[in-house]
Amino acid sequence: MAINRYSHFQEGMEAHNVDLLALIPSPTFFYLSGLDFHLMERPIVGFFSPRRQPLLVVPELERERAGTSSFECEVLTYGESDASREAAFSQAVEKIKGLSTKVSIEPLRMRAFEMQLLEHANPEWVFTNAEVLLRELRIQKDDVEIESIRRAVIVAEDALRQTLPQIHSGMSERELASELTIQLLKAGSEPDLPFNPIVASGPNSALPHATPTDRQLETGDLLIIDWGARHNGYISDITRTFAIGEIDPELLQIAEIVALANDSGREAVSPGTPCGRVDKAAREVIDAAGFGEYFVHRTGHGIGLEAHEPPNIRAGEELILSPGMTFTVEPGIYLPDHGGVRIEDDIVVTQSGAESLTTLPRQLEILG
Ligand code: GLY
Ligand code: MN
Ligand code: MN
Repeated sequence: MAINRYSHFQEGMEAHNVDLLALIPSPTFFYLSGLDFHLMERPIVGFFSPRRQPLLVVPELERERAGTSSFECEVLTYGESDASREAAFSQAVEKIKGLSTKVSIEPLRMRAFEMQLLEHANPEWVFTNAEVLLRELRIQKDDVEIESIRRAVIVAEDALRQTLPQIHSGMSERELASELTIQLLKAGSEPDLPFNPIVASGPNSALPHATPTDRQLETGDLLIIDWGARHNGYISDITRTFAIGEIDPELLQIAEIVALANDSGREAVSPGTPCGRVDKAAREVIDAAGFGEYFVHRTGHGIGLEAHEPPNIRAGEELILSPGMTFTVEPGIYLPDHGGVRIEDDIVVTQSGAESLTTLPRQLEILG
């Protein structure tokens, strides 16, 4: 698989007139090579080109891993001294400087640290943005990637099912988040979770990216749980909202509206549709009910090796959906100091429409 992926990538580089790409360890680095190096204070840089074998500069301790992986590449290593490191980067420059004076990078990933090393190693290099090339490459998932996301969804849903019977009033958000984390690992998630679970109760549920606190669940609370698992590097990102006992009518009302907005957003997904139309379909439902000002984020984001990646499901986004794109649909309403609701599904665009990989019920469930 990695070989096909790599030759596909080389074609993309040629189409975009990119002769040289420099990556530090990142999801794209993993996507291209299958190598999952730690990002640390000892630099690792991979140089990729359509015109030569990939060249990796890694610290000595990573030689074995780089050299024995199934990814065919040339490896240069350095020891613990600054001089040895500089020598390795100078040697790399000698090997590749004829390819181009332009080096494409990932602006969201490349650190000033490695940039300065590269500038020092070859002052003639000019740095350009590889975002468009890499987005085109990664945005459409192949069957293997989709199955990995599907598995990450199954694992996350299993973990929630194991956790739900343990939820009771008096339990703190932090205890619940810990239990869910344990269940994610027991259900088979890779330990590098896509993000720490969000558990937000009562007024905290009005904060879309709340961090779990010591607040204890009480009757009348809305409870947002936003969690995900990882499988083969690919992630899931799901949100469900629950009620603890009886809740007030306004909170019940927003739960119903968000469920309708989620339906409407999911139903709008099909190949050929601009992303902005999916956002509009969800947002219109919330606007029409008079809660538009309380839906304070985009309707969704791409998922894959990262929990937030293209496509952006946001107002005005013209990018056209096509089969294999995977993203969330996650409308919400957040009433400050009162409570919030979000319902988040993981969607894949199919040849004829869309499939929700998430299967858990979306209607408000009463716990406790
Ligand atoms: N879990 C963060 C998000 O849904 O974007
Ligand atoms: Mn999300
Ligand atoms: Mn989420």
